[in-house]
Amino acid sequence: MKHNFGAGPGILPQEVLKQAAEAVIDLNGIGLSLLEISHRSKEFEAVLDEAVSLVKELFSVPEGYSVLFLQGGASTQFALVPYNLLPSTGKAAYLETGVWANKALKEAKYFGEVEIVATSKESNFTYIPKNYTIPADAAYFHITSNNTIYGTQLQEFPKSPIPLVCDMSSDIFSRKVNVADFGLIYAGAQKNMGPAGVTLVIVKDDILGKVDRKIPSMFNYQTQIEGGSMYNTPPCFAIYVSMLTLRWLKGKGGVAAIEQENITKARVLYDAIDANPLFKAVAAPEDRSNMNVCFVMENPELEKPFLKLCDERGIVGIKGHRSVGGFRASIYNALPLSSILVLIDVMNEFAESNK
Ligand SMILES: Cc1ncc(COP(=O)(O)O)c(C=O)c1O
Repeated sequence: MKHNFGAGPGILPQEVLKQAAEAVIDLNGIGLSLLEISHRSKEFEAVLDEAVSLVKELFSVPEGYSVLFLQGGASTQFALVPYNLLPSTGKAAYLETGVWANKALKEAKYFGEVEIVATSKESNFTYIPKNYTIPADAAYFHITSNNTIYGTQLQEFPKSPIPLVCDMSSDIFSRKVNVADFGLIYAGAQKNMGPAGVTLVIVKDDILGKVDRKIPSMFNYQTQIEGGSMYNTPPCFAIYVSMLTLRWLKGKGGVAAIEQENITKARVLYDAIDANPLFKAVAAPEDRSNMNVCFVMENPELEKPFLKLCDERGIVGIKGHRSVGGFRASIYNALPLSSILVLIDVMNEFAESNK
């Protein structure tokens, strides 16, 4: 048995994988694979409808918002957000909390002026900047709720006088969120929601249609809303597996229930790191992520032997991102507490034998 701490594509529930495998052979006993039916068939339309309904239910999405399943990953949203929301004579505000936030703001520069309201670049993004002012004259304010590479997470969302746009790729559906506080939320599915290949967008309808430029159909949120995410052939399989994962989440008691589990899982792991003489957590304590737990060793020479021991015990995906080094345990929704306890045992055993 493997303990999958990979940062993404990340762990999915075992039961979802089994159901997905069955649907590849025969979807609901119809004698056809999910992969070989029309996206306009009643079977697939039911899948998409259920996926949209589950997003609305799990996140209590209010009236006036549209839920889209698009392609191109979160990185395409880095460009589509300013394409659709930033007038060519206007400016957009960004909070720079890591490489992904930086990539997002770079794309916005193709469309208009960008103001970085605050950054933690000088400390290699070990904390979330606070006490900044959001410019009221900007078209929107863009934040990244969880910084996958550095293991920091916004514990509270800012109250914004302008539409708040959030990249939730690595913590979507891991905690309660008041969607009404946001103009637009987007997330690549491949960490907490499903497989790679589909991107969730939740957009408040009335923030659209305000830019002066022409937007090609595929890149225009309004076209996608009118087409019900089916302006062209959608990523059927990725949507199906996301729907199964959302069903699984609902069965577990929804976002509020998983949030409690995630808090417990993260606390147990951070406590173990803090108590271990060999390891040190990287992120500022008040900004620690409940999804990606980054930690390093005081003595980097011990890194390789530790990774080897992890490998022997079935712990995979724990090597840190190259820009931070050390280790990163991604503890997404589908990762059980039991896997974390195995990791803690291995850390303790390693510390014991390297006194
Ligand atoms: C916070 C965040 N934003 C964006 C991305 C990029 O996502 P994609 O590969 O779907 O473009 C990632 C990928 O890890 C991420 O963690």
